[in-house]
Amino acid sequence: MRAHPAAGPDSPALVLVTRRLPAAAMVRLAAHVRLTVPEGDAPVARGELLRAVAGRVGIITVLTDIVDDALLTAAGPQLRIVANYAVGYDNVDVGACTARGVLVCNTPDVLTEATADCAFGLVLAAARRVAEGDRLVRSGRPWAWGPEFMLGTDVHGKTLGLVGLGRIGRAVARRGRGFGMRVVYSARARQPPAVERELAATWMPLRELLQTSDVVSLHTSLSPTTRHLIDRERLGWMKPSAVLVNTARGPIIDEAALAEALAAGRLRACGLDVYEHEPAVHPGLLANPRAVLLPHLGSATEETRLAMADLAIDNLLAGLRGERPPTPVNPELLDPTRSAG
Ligand code: DGY
Repeated sequence: MRAHPAAGPDSPALVLVTRRLPAAAMVRLAAHVRLTVPEGDAPVARGELLRAVAGRVGIITVLTDIVDDALLTAAGPQLRIVANYAVGYDNVDVGACTARGVLVCNTPDVLTEATADCAFGLVLAAARRVAEGDRLVRSGRPWAWGPEFMLGTDVHGKTLGLVGLGRIGRAVARRGRGFGMRVVYSARARQPPAVERELAATWMPLRELLQTSDVVSLHTSLSPTTRHLIDRERLGWMKPSAVLVNTARGPIIDEAALAEALAAGRLRACGLDVYEHEPAVHPGLLANPRAVLLPHLGSATEETRLAMADLAIDNLLAGLRGERPPTPVNPELLDPTRSAG
């Protein structure tokens, strides 16, 4: 970890950023606070993280940092805000933060379209064997066009089943419509009729969705109820011709059960951006050509990562000034009528 000299205020707030953000964002941040930044570009080891948080009033975290009671204790009572550089915040124990009066923020909206593009890219890649074809050409093995050479499956005219219909799910629904798909969804809460009409999306229970969809794409957050939501039994409800895509969080799928289903031909293909034990990937998936595997790239565009950084910084600075951050996760802390403790 390296202390970054502050260019701005006289007695700036001590802030830890656990991974280097895009350069323009680092410059902006350094003008407002006194920064500690890790040296390299690898996830910070837990021990180092616990040492580095000590005395900070704000932290910008990424999804590989576990923010729990131990980290909050290591930081100390002056910690005011954890600005997570991700829309998902399953790495943060929000209850523990709230109990200590620590604001938590995330970065929704700005990454919706990039993540939906990535999800749809995986739909097309898995259905049309894009990665497999690329590997074949590069291998130098002989190949020739043929009526039945490397056949995939149509996407247009098929049913796209969305598990979760938040911002990213809705953006994927629009892409599905653009590709001539019928869109169905399953979610905790049914969307208002106007949203269903706009997306031409039909609600159905999860079992029916899995039984009828040709492509299933996951867009739910990770929680105790969604961990292994797609398990052996539910994979068994899917059509053997179906494609499964996950750009949400890895543990939503039982990876061993998925590898087994693919190997047994009980599922056509899958497209994954996230993994149950990230960055490790189940060996059965690594070995299966029908699994298209990305290294968690959902929001990884230059524009989006900069927008995420700007939003994380806006959140952090507002929280440090005692103002309402743009995207708080535990806004109840901002309620003036809330009793302390
Ligand atoms: C998120 O924001 O939750 C993504 O997984 C990382 O971009």
